[in-house]
Amino acid sequence: MIDDFKIQWFPGHMTKARRMMEEQVKLVDVVVEMLDARIPQSSTNPLLNQIIGSKPKVIALNKVDMADSAQTEIWMETFKAAGLPVVKVDCAKGRGVKELLAKVQEAAKPVLEKWFKKGVRNRSTRGMIVGIPNVGKSTLINRWVGKNKVNAENRPGVTRGQQWVTIAKGLELLDTPGVLWPKFDDPKVGFALAVTGAIKEDVFDRTLAAELLAEWLLQNSPELLNNGYGVDLGAGNTHTEALEAIARKRGWIRVGGLVDRERTEMMLLRDFRNGNLGRITIDRK
Ligand code: G4P
Repeated sequence: MIDDFKIQWFPGHMTKARRMMEEQVKLVDVVVEMLDARIPQSSTNPLLNQIIGSKPKVIALNKVDMADSAQTEIWMETFKAAGLPVVKVDCAKGRGVKELLAKVQEAAKPVLEKWFKKGVRNRSTRGMIVGIPNVGKSTLINRWVGKNKVNAENRPGVTRGQQWVTIAKGLELLDTPGVLWPKFDDPKVGFALAVTGAIKEDVFDRTLAAELLAEWLLQNSPELLNNGYGVDLGAGNTHTEALEAIARKRGWIRVGGLVDRERTEMMLLRDFRNGNLGRITIDRK
């Protein structure tokens, strides 16, 4: 049962991350919220809007190469309908990163104009990237910064240790991304974060995660299991049957005839996380 899925987490970590984020946000004019296209809802932090207040926000829907394309389009429309600037990106391959930059510059324009009206002509706008762990924040920064890396400078007067890098004319980026911990109270969110690799395995029950994932795939996309592992399963099967069938197909049988469940669970989670089973969106609209 998904309701049994719990993340062992220390609230102190979340409070600390939030405080850091609040400090960082004060330094910037525009925020890029990076979401995982496989879990657009679960990777959203409901507190972010409160933290950034009226500052403009652009959504980067990353890892679209791993998500179901039709679902991604639906999510794009949902964000657009809510009036949010959003861009599909695949930071690993560099797709959409230029378009994202253009959107950020567009979102920052009103801030620049405000400064211009005050007579400040050479002030750059500043931005930062925020998102859950492993969503691709550093990959995006590296893509954007690229050859500009040498321009990194440590500015006195701003919070000590903050590095700013120029990513385009008139636009600087805080080179430390903001990590956001979503609320794990909802077991569905915890499950989505666990199976996509946003949280480390030592804070959740791996067996339960693998069973829930098998169950989810049986109900939603059994063909991915069948094609991926050469089995013949469907919505009528249980997760135990699925994991056993996969193990047997691999020949992972232990002395006494029992299948090697642990090895199978680890493989399923790894294959899913790495996109080996195909494109999947867990948060479906
Ligand atoms: P973070 O700063 O938000 O914590 O994430 P980071 O950039 O470190 O990215 C986490 C992992 O996600 C990396 O893989 C990275 O390559 C991968 N990644 C980032 N963007 C994309 C994307 O659009 N598509 C896909 N498929 N993967 C993406 P890793 O396994 O940790 O390292 P490596 O494979 O790059 O060696």
